[in-house]
Amino acid sequence: MCGIVGYVGMRNAPDVLLEGLKRLEYRGYDSAGLAVKSDGRLEVIKEVGKVADLARLVEERQLEGCQGIGHTRWATHGGVSVDNAHPHCDDCGNFVLVHNGIIENYLDLREELEAAGVTFTSETDTEVIVQLLARLYQKDMLDALVKLTEKLRGSYALAIMNREIDGTFYCLRKGSPLILGIGDGEGFCASDVPALLPYTRQVVYLEEGEIAAVSRDGIQVWASDGQRVEKSISTIDWEVSMTEKAAYPHYMLKEIHEQGAVLRTTLKGRVENGKVDLSPELAWDKKLVESWRKLHIVACGTSYYAALVAERVLEKWTDLEVKVDIASEYRYRHLRADTETLAVFVSQSGETADTLAACRLARSQGAHCLAVTNVRGSTLAREVHDVLLLKAGPEIGVAATKTFMGQIAALYLFALYLGRMRETLSAAEGNRLLEEMLRLPYKVEVTLEREDSVRALAEKYADRKDFLFLGRGMSFPVALEGALKLKEISYVHAEAYAAGEMKHGPIALLEAAVPVMVIIPRDGLYEKTLSNIQEAKARKAPILAVATDGDELISRHANDVLRVPWTDEEMTPFLTVVPLQLFAYHMARLRECEIDQPRNLAKSVTVE
Ligand code: M6R
Repeated sequence: MCGIVGYVGMRNAPDVLLEGLKRLEYRGYDSAGLAVKSDGRLEVIKEVGKVADLARLVEERQLEGCQGIGHTRWATHGGVSVDNAHPHCDDCGNFVLVHNGIIENYLDLREELEAAGVTFTSETDTEVIVQLLARLYQKDMLDALVKLTEKLRGSYALAIMNREIDGTFYCLRKGSPLILGIGDGEGFCASDVPALLPYTRQVVYLEEGEIAAVSRDGIQVWASDGQRVEKSISTIDWEVSMTEKAAYPHYMLKEIHEQGAVLRTTLKGRVENGKVDLSPELAWDKKLVESWRKLHIVACGTSYYAALVAERVLEKWTDLEVKVDIASEYRYRHLRADTETLAVFVSQSGETADTLAACRLARSQGAHCLAVTNVRGSTLAREVHDVLLLKAGPEIGVAATKTFMGQIAALYLFALYLGRMRETLSAAEGNRLLEEMLRLPYKVEVTLEREDSVRALAEKYADRKDFLFLGRGMSFPVALEGALKLKEISYVHAEAYAAGEMKHGPIALLEAAVPVMVIIPRDGLYEKTLSNIQEAKARKAPILAVATDGDELISRHANDVLRVPWTDEEMTPFLTVVPLQLFAYHMARLRECEIDQPRNLAKSVTVE
């Protein structure tokens, strides 16, 4: 949510900032801006719209300089306008800053500042920070920043420049991510790794409350009380090419097609002699594993649906009492975690504010906390006891696809591992399941090769306004995920229900204009779902089915069928989700929607 970049070095700062902002645009894209320091002056350019619109303006004005900060916005406080876009300056033009997060006490601070005669030019909470900083500054930047952190309540990642100080910009971090990059005679900051990849892979992760000064000579970091902190440098293992679209028209399509590879990478190194071995990542002994009685899994959005898929195998393969919840609910419920609880937090970005808050709560209650995340070094990864990495590579499309695949794969490996360690899953059954998992990358690729049939189906139904998605058992969370994808990127209204629930209400929506997408692989609940299809057909709703190869019966009941290869009942989500992702993609394309950057959304939701 909002992307930040900062640069100081020998290159032309506007070029570095614009490249970084383009790479962070998935964090927010309603307006963008940058500030460059040149000849002792702070020059600010802002524009409503995409980073490309800002780039045109920067070129027109021929902005140059070797130090600057930039921002791409996802509006929270104040509408989308040039005045509300970042960077923001104080009324004397001495300080300029960009901000990601929310200042909770901004109204009180604004009132105080206005009473002292300050005139505001925007409606944002951010402008309060810069006006306040200007009043706290007494020729000592560290002292002013320490005082600033004492006054601010809420979350912030900040990059700041002071007109008086050449060759250095400052960063602060509390509750919103910020990474510093170290180059040869240059320094960077960014909210996310992709912005840094073209320039450096040497990074320093700022911890909660830390303050940093970034200059050509390196980085200095202090704790919130002004005490110096020594930081270690980490090396990022992602490549620049991973963040490029290659020959695909959209990142989302590229990422959907990477899913076979994601499965291979997730499995690689974690299967030894026909058994799952997670011991290098999760150094758990039998005593610890057997001390747990409850398993809480907490996540948001697509990650929550991945958790719901995993819930169904975890309750089957282990004897743990499994409870899955949405992070924004979990954090306010009275679901007590304790020392007998293993709490798993699933988050692609590792920065989702609600998931982080839920994690902090469970940890404070004594739970052992595990993060399942795609981003090494993310806030979540640093706040838990253990981390299981997805290894899906950077996901740029705002709609999560390959990371859903990575999440269910990692959670299944985890479930098999736990089941074997707790001896609730027999070796024979564990081996059989794992063997089928190892065949999944190929089966996913076979499913992807059938994209033409999905495109044809989208062409047939592209003008529909409402869809109902149904599934039972393993297919219910897949129905939820399929409906979410359709809503997110094609703006078509889609509801998902457990197939058996349809007659308890949603059936009232059915008529010839409302297609029903039924996820009905050949599994133990097949006949039950078939009965639900009859109920929908009786209301004249067209039936679109995602079904297993060789299932002839379904062709007699559904108007259209998308096929997936056969797999074990437990493994069906890995395959049935693929046509649904492709369906959402092609619907969005036919409806001429902005696929990689759907309206109103942002990739990581770092505010509550
Ligand atoms: O980074 P996270 O996995 O924590 O993000 C959770 C959700 O915000 C995310 O899955 C969201 O629902 C996506 N837009 C789904 O496509």
